[in-house]
Amino acid sequence: QEPPAAEAVPQAGDEGLLLLRRVGVVDPSSLDDYRAHGGYAALRQAFALGPAGVIREVTDSGLAGRGGAAFPTGRKWRATASQPDRPHFLVCNADESEPGTFKDRVLMEGDPYALVEAMTIAAYAIGAHRGYLYVRGEYPRAVSRMQYAVDQARARGLLGDDILGQGYAFDIEIRRGAGAYICGEETALFNSIEGYRGEPRAKPPFPVEKGLFGRPTVENNVETLVNVLPILTMGAPAYAAIGTSGSTGPKLFCVSGAVERPGVYELPFGATLGELLELAGVRDRLRAVLLGGAAGGFVRPDELDVPLTFEGTREAGTTLGSGVVMAFDDTVPLPRLLLRIAEFFRDESCGQCVPCRVGTVRQEEALHRIAERTGAAAAEDIALLREVGRAMRDASICGLGQTAWNAVESAIDRLGAYE
Ligand code: NAI
Ligand code: SF4
Repeated sequence: QEPPAAEAVPQAGDEGLLLLRRVGVVDPSSLDDYRAHGGYAALRQAFALGPAGVIREVTDSGLAGRGGAAFPTGRKWRATASQPDRPHFLVCNADESEPGTFKDRVLMEGDPYALVEAMTIAAYAIGAHRGYLYVRGEYPRAVSRMQYAVDQARARGLLGDDILGQGYAFDIEIRRGAGAYICGEETALFNSIEGYRGEPRAKPPFPVEKGLFGRPTVENNVETLVNVLPILTMGAPAYAAIGTSGSTGPKLFCVSGAVERPGVYELPFGATLGELLELAGVRDRLRAVLLGGAAGGFVRPDELDVPLTFEGTREAGTTLGSGVVMAFDDTVPLPRLLLRIAEFFRDESCGQCVPCRVGTVRQEEALHRIAERTGAAAAEDIALLREVGRAMRDASICGLGQTAWNAVESAIDRLGAYE
């Protein structure tokens, strides 16, 4: 199915936006247009600051990873930059596969040169001369636009041996995923690039020490990297003043489901879920909102004042994840929805470790049984689900198994899904 065009993003090009401001405004194929709209000012600033200065700005900005885990970006960059082992690599994770997440696709399709510029800055900061952009295979338009942008940048001396005449060499190779959700896990993604099965590696060692090809590697999400451009052009203090002290800057939210205007929204951290849903035109009879995707959790219509920040969602017992906001009205049968989520995790488990391989199957089986039974019989299966969920959370190797029970648990506890 052909994805909707970037131009359909409700706020695209609005004044005052930092991440979406060129989306739907610039010609995504034109490097000249990108430059005419402020492109490559951040890279010039990066060369003026030097690698250590760039890392200082990113650290001071408070930027945290936008893939879902919110790890401090400056800390990651510094840890890799200081590794004596060479070469260093930069990997951009564009294997955006969390159900309901489509913000990175919009950035790549609508403003591809921004990602090329941001990757060049990150590589410069950490001392990498080679970068990999791993794009979800189901994003053909993003792949072709990014490939064209990389080729144009190389032809114009913005990638290659001597970028902007500064004597710095960097180039980007694009790799396409082949449809496995697990290849978005950062170390499974390394294995995929290296030609092995997409199975996560045990951590530690973390990629900052031993990543792609066993070398120090920074892996960042697309949105995380694109944030580096406003950080350098406006300066860390101005950027850090946006949002809250615990969650700085702007955030992209992917709003879908029972709303009038689904799409990608950019808001400063700190707006409430209710405010975002109002922008998107929430429809009547709202039953629940899935926050953070299948790995996240549900919130009720009476909880819409939760602030959309890392700390606010944590305090409310949920997660922001990669910015998924999926609204469901009361026409959606919850048991069917939960079964679909369980089926997804069972299907996407790589099978490497027992708690996840077996747990995701047991979870789906129990949900099937519950959907057909009620009362004491359902209570037995809910107790089993809790036990299996705990084992998956505590003993799985990677985030897939650790979070595979989150949505089901929150539906039982917060929504009373089977009462
Ligand atoms: P994580 O918390 O294990 O790691 C986050 C990042 O910080 C990684 O790059 C890791 O290498 C780094 N890190 C953690 N501790 C470190 C340390 N002590 N030193 C150096 N680096 C360190 O989380 P993970 O498993 O990478 O990501 C989980 C998140 O991914 C979930 O919150 C979920 O929302 C999100 N996710 C997003 C998807 C998407 O399509 N955007 C798909 C699936 C999950
Ligand atoms: Fe594979 Fe699941 Fe284990 Fe992750 S938790 S390594 S997806 S089996």
